[in-house]
Amino acid sequence: MTLISRRQVLVGAVGSVGLFGLGACGEVTSAVTPRSAAVRGAEAGRRAAGQRTITGQLTPRLVTLDLGGPIVRTWAYGEHLPGPLLRATAGDQLRIVVDNQLPTETSIHWHGIALRNDMDGVPGITQDAIQAGKRFTYEFTAPDPGTYFYHPHVGVQLDRGLYGMLLIDDPADAGSYDSEWTVVLDDWIDGTGQTPDEVLAKFNGTGQGSSPADSMPGMTDATGMSGMGETLTSPILGGAGDINYPHYLANGRVPTGAQTFHAKPGQKILLRLVNAGSDTAFRVALAGHQLTVTHTDGYPVQPVSTDALLIGMGERFDVEVTAADGIFPLVASAEGKRGQALAYLRTGAGRTPEATVTPSELNRRVLLGNDLRATDPVRLADKRIDRTHTLVLGGAMSPYRWTINGKAFPQASPLPVTKGQRVRLRMINHSMMFHPMHLHGHTFAASGGGARKDTIIVRPMQTVEVDFDATNPGQWATHCHNIYHAESGMMTTVSYRN
Ligand code: C2O
Ligand code: CU
Repeated sequence: MTLISRRQVLVGAVGSVGLFGLGACGEVTSAVTPRSAAVRGAEAGRRAAGQRTITGQLTPRLVTLDLGGPIVRTWAYGEHLPGPLLRATAGDQLRIVVDNQLPTETSIHWHGIALRNDMDGVPGITQDAIQAGKRFTYEFTAPDPGTYFYHPHVGVQLDRGLYGMLLIDDPADAGSYDSEWTVVLDDWIDGTGQTPDEVLAKFNGTGQGSSPADSMPGMTDATGMSGMGETLTSPILGGAGDINYPHYLANGRVPTGAQTFHAKPGQKILLRLVNAGSDTAFRVALAGHQLTVTHTDGYPVQPVSTDALLIGMGERFDVEVTAADGIFPLVASAEGKRGQALAYLRTGAGRTPEATVTPSELNRRVLLGNDLRATDPVRLADKRIDRTHTLVLGGAMSPYRWTINGKAFPQASPLPVTKGQRVRLRMINHSMMFHPMHLHGHTFAASGGGARKDTIIVRPMQTVEVDFDATNPGQWATHCHNIYHAESGMMTTVSYRN
C-alpha cells in the first residue's frame, strides 16, 4: 500500500507515532517528521554566524560505583555519579559522541533544551535506539541559557546511574554570585538486590513472585493498600510515589558519605538543583538559610524567598543563598517517604551535623514550581489560544498501568498542533498520585503569567493548564517524569502536522 511505503521512506524504523491523521476540518494531515526540512529549517534559524562547537563524549557502561559507603554494580557514564558535567554558552552547538558500551540499546535525551527534533533522543519517536556496541553523534544548538540535564530515554535506564548536568551559560549575564554549587538529587535502588527493570517487572506482575504489593517490601499502593502496611503519602502531593528506595543521593553520595561544599561566610552562592530521581520528589532546605529562588527549568522567575522547596522529578531550580558562618546541612527529604539525601555547606568551624539531621526549615514554608511567576522579559505574551488539548491523567498500581486519556503509550492518540499556534495543555489528574508532567522541545508557561517551565507537578484531582507557542516543528514526547509511569503508558506526543 502506498501509504506504508511512503511512511517507510519518510522515517525508516522511526514510526510508532501516528503519521497521518485528520485535521480539524476533516482534511488529511501528515506529521512533520524528525528528519523533515521543517526541522532542519528551525535548526538553521538557531545558528548564528561564527557559532562555536563544544565537543564531548559520553560512554554509558557497566561500572562499580562507591556511593559514599555502599558499593554498587550499575550502569553509568563512567566512574563518577553524576556523569560528566556538560557546559556551553547559549547559541553554541554541542557535538556529543555517545559510545554505547552497555549490554543493551540506549539513547540520550537533553532534558529541557528546545533543540532540533531529530536530536531529542527518543527511540520510536525521533530516532532509532543506539544499539549495544554502537556510536551515535548528537549535534544540536542549545538556544537558551539555564540548568538542564541529560539522561537515556529507553525503558527505566534513568533509574540507574545514567544522568548528568547540562549547563548553558548566558553570554549576557556573567552572574552576580561568588560561587556555584551544583547538586543532583536521586533515588537509588540499582545494585542493592534488584535492578530498575526487575522493579518494573514486579509492578507488571511479570517478575518472580506474584503481585507487586505482596512480593515487594516497601512497595505501596496508590490507593493506600500496601504490602508493608505503609503508604507513601505526602501532605502536599498526596500519593507520593510507588517505591521506597534503600538510598537517596546528593551528587552520587548517601548521607553518611555526604559531600561538603566549601565557601566563605557572606558569599553569595548560586545553588543549582536538579531532581534526577525516577519516583521521588524531594523537599529541600539548607539549615539556617533562606532560599531565594531565581530560576526554574532554565528560565528566570520573580525571585521568591522560602524556607524549603519541593522539586518533582525532572524539575530544576536555581537558588541564591547568602552563606552564614559555620557548617550547614543541605537536606533533600524524600517527600512522603522515609529517607533523605544530604550535602554540607562549610564556611567556618563547627562539628558536622549527623546524617539524619532534620533542619526545621523543612517544615516551614514549602514552595512549589507551580507557585512561581515568570519575570517580564520571559513572560509568555498574551495571545488567543488556537488549540486546547485535554490530558486526563489516570492509572493505578494494580494493574500497574498509567494512562493519558485512557490510553497507554504507544497506543496513545497524538496531540496535533500546527506551527505558529498558541497551544494550551489542560492536564487533569484523575489518579491518586502526583505526576510531574514534562514536555519535550518547548518551554510552556503555567497559564496566567506563571513560570516558564518544561516540567510541572500535577497533584491528585488537580487541573493544571500550561500554554506554549508551537515554534519547534517535529514530534515531541510529553509524559510523566515518574519513569515507571512513563514506561507503563503515561506518555503521548505533541505532533506537529502539515
Ligand atoms: Cu527527562 Cu522525556 O524526559
Ligand atoms: Cu506519573
